[in-house]
Amino acid sequence: MTTVTPASSSQPSRVSLQTLRDLKQRHEPIAMLTAYDYPTAKILANTGIDILLVGDSAATTVLGAESTLKVTFEFLLTITEAVRRGAPDLFLMADMPFASYPDVRTAVANAARFIREAGADGVKLEGDVRHREIVAALSAAGITVCAHVGLLPQRAMQQGGYFAQGRTSADAHRIIDDALALAEAGAHLLLIEAVPDEVTAEVVKRVACPVLGCGAGPSADGHVVVLHDMLGYSERPPRFVEKFADVPTVIAAAATHYAQAVRNRSYPATRHQYHSKTGV
Ligand code: KIV
Repeated sequence: MTTVTPASSSQPSRVSLQTLRDLKQRHEPIAMLTAYDYPTAKILANTGIDILLVGDSAATTVLGAESTLKVTFEFLLTITEAVRRGAPDLFLMADMPFASYPDVRTAVANAARFIREAGADGVKLEGDVRHREIVAALSAAGITVCAHVGLLPQRAMQQGGYFAQGRTSADAHRIIDDALALAEAGAHLLLIEAVPDEVTAEVVKRVACPVLGCGAGPSADGHVVVLHDMLGYSERPPRFVEKFADVPTVIAAAATHYAQAVRNRSYPATRHQYHSKTGV
């Protein structure tokens, strides 16, 4: 008798919101990275990363802009779809860029496009207590939402620059209140950026949903950094980033080698050529 193996047992399981909740429940840290293109997502798909974030940091990492304000919704939509193609089984979070959620109606319409057209599992938006209604509306519309509090790069001008937040008692309580208000409004995940660990620990203690930290100390349920920072692309990465590789050096060495090979005519070699079948 032939034994039929259920298809599911041989397939990698897809990371869902429930997977992330289970990881938090089991106190297993969630690993999250940003991603912006298909080939990189394909590599990241098999590395133990749970969540890929198509961040508005694409403005700086991919487009070379000064700030995240420069990236458009349509650009993020296109690259989110590309990342989904590369990593079909990871939890895919799309970042709502600057001014893409000015009101409830626009927020739901734009977030729905990330889900429907690009295959995202959820969206992230930077916010504070004033975004309760938008978070509630997204959640009510069936859209998984991650509320990003603490340092908010889209509001860096209002926050006085790219500085750690929550370092005074008053500011720490402001951020904790933002996090609690947005979790209560229906956020399924929270992301806290650039705050002391005490702030993160307090939020983790007081909300049920997974809390992802970006430079927010070890107490977070998971951690995210910008891919290009940890791969060594950034000249001045934030102090909380560890450089795990020096990819620019690898690329520069390959390009230098190629340029030399072209100049000394060792490339293209015979094995790289097409040969005419009939003669010209
Ligand atoms: O856009 C982004 O990359 C982010 C991270 C800093 C979390 O929001």
